[in-house]
Amino acid sequence: MTERKDISIRNLTKDYIGTRGNMVRAVDDVSVDIAPGEFITLLGPSGCGKTTILRMIAGFEIPTAGDIYIGGEEVSKLTPDKRDTAMVFQSYALFPHLNVYDNIAYGLKIKKLSKNDIDKKVNHIMELIGLEGFGQRAPNQLSGGQQQRVALARALVMEPSVLLFDEPLSNLDAKLRITMRNEIRRIQKEVGITAVYVTHDQAEAMSISDRVIVMNKGIVEQEGSPMEIYQEPNNSFVADFIGQSNLIDAKVIDVLDGKIEVDIDGKSIQIETESKLNIDDMVKLVIRPESLELQDSGNTEVEVINSIFMGSYQDYYVGLGDVMINIQVNNPREKKIYDIGDRAFIDLDPRQIHVVSR
Ligand SMILES: Nc1ncnc2c1ncn2[C@@H]1O[C@H](COP(=O)(O)OP(=O)(O)OP(=O)(O)O)[C@@H](O)[C@H]1O
Ligand SMILES: [Mg+2]
Repeated sequence: MTERKDISIRNLTKDYIGTRGNMVRAVDDVSVDIAPGEFITLLGPSGCGKTTILRMIAGFEIPTAGDIYIGGEEVSKLTPDKRDTAMVFQSYALFPHLNVYDNIAYGLKIKKLSKNDIDKKVNHIMELIGLEGFGQRAPNQLSGGQQQRVALARALVMEPSVLLFDEPLSNLDAKLRITMRNEIRRIQKEVGITAVYVTHDQAEAMSISDRVIVMNKGIVEQEGSPMEIYQEPNNSFVADFIGQSNLIDAKVIDVLDGKIEVDIDGKSIQIETESKLNIDDMVKLVIRPESLELQDSGNTEVEVINSIFMGSYQDYYVGLGDVMINIQVNNPREKKIYDIGDRAFIDLDPRQIHVVSR
C-alpha cells in the first residue's frame, strides 16, 4: 500500500547560469505546503519555473536555497532513488525493446522482488489503469494514450508516496487529453497518492486539481481551489491566465465600508471588495465574458463590434465608450442574435465585478 506523505517546500530558490554566463533565477523564494493525498497543480506560462520545482522535488536538480520536506523528512541531500517519488514525463520514455508487461515490471525486477510478487503487482496495476490484455505488446504497437498509461503504470507499480507529473498529456490530441486527465484523477483518488502536476493548460489544471498554484516568472501569484482562483483572482495576471477576462481600468472615486465606487463610462457603480484602496487609486475591474448577457434593454448601452457563432455560445465584442468588452452568451439557439453594428444593452451587475489593484 502507498503511504500518504505531505510535502513542504520552504523558501525554495533556483539560479541557473545562462548561456552568456549570466544568472537566471528560475524559482524565486517559493513556499508551498501540500497535504497527504492532495492533488496540486503548478500552473503558469512557459519558463515560469514549473519543471524546475518538480525536478527539485524529485532530486534531479539541487536547490540554490531553501528546503524540501517529504513526509517530514528534509530530502535536499538525498539522491532521487531515496526520495520515494516517481515521475511521469511528457515523452513517455518507455523501453522500446521491452513489452508492456516488462516495462511495468522493470523497476520491481531491479528491486529484486520475487517473480510471484512482481506478477501480482503488475497485473493489479494493469487492471487499475485499463491495460488488461496489452502485456505482450511492444510500445510501438500502442497509441499515444496507451503509451502514457504504461508510463503511469510504471510509476504507480513502485508504490511511491509522491507522484510527479510534468505535462504528461501534451503529446495527446484534445479529446484524448480530456479522457486521460479524468483517468489520472480517478486513479490518483483510488490510490490516495499525493500528486504534484505541472501544466500550462488552465482547463486541465482546473479539472484535475484540489488546489492550483499559479506561477509567473519564478514566483507564486496565487494558490487556491480552482473555484477560488477563478472567482477571486488576486491580480490581473491570474484573472487573465485563468479563463477569459475583461479587464477594465477604472479610478476609485469614493471609498465606503467594504465597497469602492468607480466610474464606468460615465456611470458610477459601487462594488464590494476586500482590497484596501484609497480615493484616486487606479484599479482593474475583472468581468467574466459568461457573466454578461446581450439584450434589448438594460442599464448600459453598447455597440456590437463583432458577433461570432461558436456552437455552444455566441461570442460578442461590444464597445462601451472606448473599451471593448467580450461577452459569451450560452446556448445561442434559444437567444436573439445581434449583428455587427447593432445597438444593444448589458446589465452591469456589481456582484459580477471583481476588483484587483494590479
Ligand atoms: N539547465 C538550465 N540551464 C539554464 N537555464 C535553465 C535550465 N533549465 C531551465 N532554465 C531556465 O529556467 C527558467 C525556468 O525553466 P522551467 O523549465 O522550470 O520552466 P517551465 O515553467 O517548466 O516552462 P515550460 O512550460 O516551457 O516547460 C527558464 O527561463 C529556463 O530557460
Ligand atoms: Mg516545463
